[in-house]
Amino acid sequence: MTSGGDAPGMNAAIRSVLRTALAHDLEVMSVHGGFEGLIDGNFSTMDSFTVSNIIQRGGTIIKTSRSERFKTTEGRKTAYDQLKKTGIEGLVIIGGNGTFAGAHAFCSEFHIPVVGIPKTIDNDVYGCDYTIGFDTACNTALEAIDKIRDTADAHNRLFFVEVMGRDAGYIALHCGISAGAEAILIPEDKDSIAGLIACLERGWKRKKSSLIVIVAEGAVKGGILNLAAEVEKKFKHYEIRTTVLGHIQRGGNPSCFDRTLASLLGNEAVKVIMQGRTGLVIGMRNNRLSYTPFLKAAMGRKKINKRFENIIKELSA
Ligand code: F6P
Repeated sequence: MTSGGDAPGMNAAIRSVLRTALAHDLEVMSVHGGFEGLIDGNFSTMDSFTVSNIIQRGGTIIKTSRSERFKTTEGRKTAYDQLKKTGIEGLVIIGGNGTFAGAHAFCSEFHIPVVGIPKTIDNDVYGCDYTIGFDTACNTALEAIDKIRDTADAHNRLFFVEVMGRDAGYIALHCGISAGAEAILIPEDKDSIAGLIACLERGWKRKKSSLIVIVAEGAVKGGILNLAAEVEKKFKHYEIRTTVLGHIQRGGNPSCFDRTLASLLGNEAVKVIMQGRTGLVIGMRNNRLSYTPFLKAAMGRKKINKRFENIIKELSA
C-alpha cells in the first residue's frame, strides 16, 4: 500500500516489495488508494508483470490518499475486517509520518504484521537519514534554481525561491548548499529579517550580480510574497522577484539514489514481515538498516545538521 503525498521512488519500492515476496513464494495483493482503499477493501492480486517498467516512474501505480476515516477507530476496524476477509496476513505500507501515526494505532488495536517504508520529499521521518523521494525532489528543485540563477544574474536581481517541505527545512537546506544560495530560511531555525538583510547587504558590498534566497514553505508567515515585500522596504539595491516551485518537486523520474534506497528498503520490509516482526519503519541510518517503531518514526523530530547551515553562510560570504 502507498499512503500520503506521493514521492518519486514509490513505484520502485512497490516493485521491490512485490518481486521480493514472489521470490519467497508469497502471494501479493495491492491496496488501491492508501488507507481509503484499505477501508473499502479495494485490493487486487499482483504478478511480476504488474510492476514491469515502473522503477523509473514517479507517482504510484497503486494510487495514494490522505484518509480522515482511518483516523477513527471505526475506520481502522473496517480496514482490519477487510484484510481478514481477504486472507491478507501482513501489510507493507510505503508512507510518511502521518501514515505511520495511523499504522501505530492500527498495530496497537489489531494483530497483523505491519511494516513501514519511509517516503516523503520532506525527509522528516525520524530514525532514517533519508526518505524515498527526497533526493529526487532536491534535484528537481536544484535544476529550477540553476535556471533562476541564469536570469537573476542577467538582470542583477534578488530572487526568493520557495521550496516544499511542510514544516521541515531539508529541501531548502540541501538546495541552499548545492545551488550556492546566498541564504536560506528554514522553520527549524527562524532567522530574523534583520539577519537576512545583513547577509544580503554583504552580497551587495561584494558586488554580487545576483542573490538567491531559498525559503522553505514553513519558514515564513504569509509566504514569500510577504517576505519579499518586507525585504523590499529595507533593501533597495536589487530588483526582487519570487518563484514558488510547488508540486513539480513531487513528480518526475526518481534519481538513482531514490531507486536504490527504495529497492533496498522494499526488499528488507518483506524479510521483516516474514520474520513475523511488526510495527517498524525500515530505513537506512549511517549506512546501515534501521528499524524504528511507528510511533517514534511519526513523532520523533529529526535534527537539522547545523554544520550545513554554517557552510552556506561561509561559502556565500
Ligand atoms: O509532504 C509532502 C508535501 O509535498 C509537503 O512538502 C507539502 O507541504 C504538502 O505535501 C502539499 O500537500 P498536498 O498538495 O498533497 O496537499
